[in-house]
Parts: sequence; structure tokens; C-alpha cells
Amino acid sequence: MEIITSITTLRARLQAETSIALVPTMGNLHAGHLSLVRLAQQHTTCTVVSIFVNRLQFLPHEDFDRYPRTAVEDCQLLKEMDVNIVFMPDEKTLYPVPQEFRLTLPAMADTLEGAFRPGFFNGVMTVVLKLFNITQPQVAIFGKKDYQQLQLVRQMVEQLNLPIEIIAGDTIRAEDGLALSSRNRYLDAAERQEASRLAAVLAQIKNNIASGERNFGKLRQQASQTLAAHGWQSNYIAICNQQTLSPAIPDDGHLAILGAARLGQTRLIDNIEFSMP
Ligand code: PAJ
Repeated sequence: MEIITSITTLRARLQAETSIALVPTMGNLHAGHLSLVRLAQQHTTCTVVSIFVNRLQFLPHEDFDRYPRTAVEDCQLLKEMDVNIVFMPDEKTLYPVPQEFRLTLPAMADTLEGAFRPGFFNGVMTVVLKLFNITQPQVAIFGKKDYQQLQLVRQMVEQLNLPIEIIAGDTIRAEDGLALSSRNRYLDAAERQEASRLAAVLAQIKNNIASGERNFGKLRQQASQTLAAHGWQSNYIAICNQQTLSPAIPDDGHLAILGAARLGQTRLIDNIEFSMP
């Protein structure tokens, strides 16, 4: 496994490769990230995992400084998986000058996560496009855990004609249902026990829709109330059309149920897909 920090070196190394998969990450790798690596390896011969904590996607009050940075452990895990290349640029490499050129994103980027974290998706999509341009992969892998991010990446690739196939990996969960996330380590023991409730209320909505309930407003409200009763502050519980992420109408066949809520100091997000029978 090669660890590369320079763009020039990465480009030179990838010149001869014809089948490259990129897995962009911010490091502190867990089984969710590793499942994306496995997916990449099934599709191509050269897997590049990028590790870069992207300041541009953190708001000033957010956790950029304390975001867990565990490069040594990350590289060990990736080496055990026979990853070909880890790309770990530093900030000056990826942002040698202030990043003044930015993307104008579709309205979807201002909803849900975008409404609670203004500018977040601008930062995400800017770094993703840079990583695509640097690596020029045939395939890129993103997790469904960050559903809105995945759909925005798909739309960017489509609308900007990027010759990249986007493959989505399922959300990997702990035994109690909590979606794995680098931010779970901020939870104390009591919060960690409570944390699986977010996935549970989303699953409850799915079950109720499967049983015929079509009053989406009522389902969302019940979910928020359940969370509030257990000490959560919910940001949103949304029942959306899978592609557009606009509020679902009862006729929509393919739904995504998304939630974001704060437990103590930690903000968690999760989602679940559902297709009408
Ligand atoms: P990060 O949070 O490190 O996630 C990297 C990738 O792993 C994303 O595609 C994310 O959806 C996926 N992932 C996270 N938890 C997962 C889980 N439990 N199961 C499956 N996949 C999971 O997302 C980012 O980094 C950044 O925004 C990035 C795209 C790298 C741009 O900076």
C-alpha cells in the first residue's frame, strides 16, 4: 500500500491505471468506511482511499478542531485490506490559495442538512469535485448514511457530465441499530445506550407507512415527540422522495425517511429507504 500526500505524485502513480475507484473519507475509519472499500475493490483494480478533514465543510462553531484524526490506525486498517493507495494531502496541498471558486448547488442543498448547516454542502461538493479531478476515477463510492450528500454527488456527476460511476454503499450499523459514525465517539455511556432510538423511530415510520398510514405529518410529529420525551432535540424528521428529497406525496413510490437530532452535545443523522409495495 502506498501513502501519497502530493497531488503530482498521485497523478503520476495513477497514469498507467485504467480502473480506479475512489473512496473519499475524513478518516477515523470504521466498519462503514471499510464496507465502501470492499465495494470499491469489487468494481476496479486500483482503489484509492482519500483521508482529508475538510475545513470548508465545517461551520465556525462545529467540531473541525476536535474531529478525530487517527491516520496511523486508519492506514493500518487499509493496509490489512490491501488497498492500493491512501491519498492524505495536507490543507496547503488541497487549498494552496483561498478556495474562492465554488459551486452553485441546487435547491436541494439548502434543505434538511443544508438548512441546519448552511454552507456545509458547498464545502463537501467543492472538495469532492477537487478529489474527482485529482484522482480521475472511473468509479467513486459513497455511503447511504449521508443520503443527501450521496444524492447531491449523483446530481453533480449528471449535470456536469463527469465520467464517473457513483456506487452507493448500505449503512453499516451497530448491533442495536445505531449507524456507525466517527461522531459516535463523542457520546458518553448513557447517551450511547440511548442513541439507537433515532434509527428506531425512523424504522417505526417505515413500518407505519408499510401498514398503510399515509398521514406523513402525523408520523413525523410522533417521531419527534418520542425523541423529545427521551431527551433529544430533533432538527428534522422528513419523509422524502428518494431522488429529489422534496417532501413525499402519498403517491411517491420510493421514499427516504431522514432524521437529524441532537443528543447532549452530539448531533446524529440517519435515514432509511422505503419503496412502496
Ligand atoms: P466521512 O464522514 O468520513 O464518510 C466517508 C464516507 O463513508 C461517506 O460516503 C459516508 O457516507 C460513508 N459512511 C459513513 N458512515 C457510514 C456507515 N455507517 N455505513 C456506510 N457508509 C458510511 O462523508 C464524508 O466523510 C465527507 O463529507 C467527504 C465525502 C469525505 C467529503 O469531505
